[in-house]
Amino acid sequence: MTLTVTGTALHTPLCDLLGIRYPICQAGMGYVARSTLAAAVSAAGGLGVIAAAHSTAAELRAEIRRVRDLTDRPFGVDILFATVRASGEEAARFTDRVKASIDVTLEERVPVLIAGLGNPGPVTAEAHRLGITVMALCGNVKQARDHAANGVDVVIAQGHEAGGHTGRIGGLVLVAAVADALAPRPVLAAGGIADGRGLVAALALGAQGAWIGTRFIATPEAHAHDNYKRKIVAIDEEGNVVPVGPVTAVPEPGTLLLFASGLAGLFASRRKLPVS
Ligand SMILES: Cc1cc2nc3c(=O)[nH]c(=O)nc-3n(C[C@H](O)[C@H](O)[C@H](O)COP(=O)(O)O)c2cc1C
Repeated sequence: MTLTVTGTALHTPLCDLLGIRYPICQAGMGYVARSTLAAAVSAAGGLGVIAAAHSTAAELRAEIRRVRDLTDRPFGVDILFATVRASGEEAARFTDRVKASIDVTLEERVPVLIAGLGNPGPVTAEAHRLGITVMALCGNVKQARDHAANGVDVVIAQGHEAGGHTGRIGGLVLVAAVADALAPRPVLAAGGIADGRGLVAALALGAQGAWIGTRFIATPEAHAHDNYKRKIVAIDEEGNVVPVGPVTAVPEPGTLLLFASGLAGLFASRRKLPVS
């Protein structure tokens, strides 16, 4: 992968594609990643992203417009195109809610559309016609190749460290494999990246940038309770394990799903804490 120096040694071709200064994309996070966080990240030179998961279509449209009030920099909207357990035909059918989020994102010509789960293939042609860049997450090389074949511009290779919802392969193995398989198409690395070391490691593996979630929760701009933010800062590597068993997208009663990145940036994952 080519690194070019244009004001910063971290400038990769992805920066030119997305119109950003640093190869740092803030992950879509339901309830947490709203206009305030997305606008702050974009204004700082990364790619800020609004999560659509918790919003009605009207709320999403208002959030998109609020980002535009706060910054003129590019940003994205992350949509869960499929539920975690969807597969086959079920994964290819969009729910009404997903369809509404897609429609708003296209109507508003948001610069970047991201599929947090599932196949955005049915909308890539229309997105491209509107000048929208499409990104999608994958958990293995087959999914990455499928995304590329479906016209996805940037594939996000997300390791199990992210919490396990996109696959079981560790990021160290997955990112290199996907980068090799898709070259020269840009690949982002995700899962457990929490600082500059993680970003440099991602670039060394062949990615052109990083998709970072949990680390951004511990910021003033994130829409999260202070206890949550403090917990993320306080945990060590022992607090970052992926539980064995089925992954659920919806919290069970009495529990709070905490997607927690390790501060070492290596073992980020999801865990359950009692709700106090
Ligand atoms: C609290 C939280 C909520 C999330 N919600 C979503 C979501 O709504 N849609 C989505 O595609 N991914 C969601 N994710 C996953 C992130 O987009 C991202 O892939 C992941 O956080 C990256 O791993 P990291 O947290 O170790 O950096 C969420 C993550 C967290 C921590």
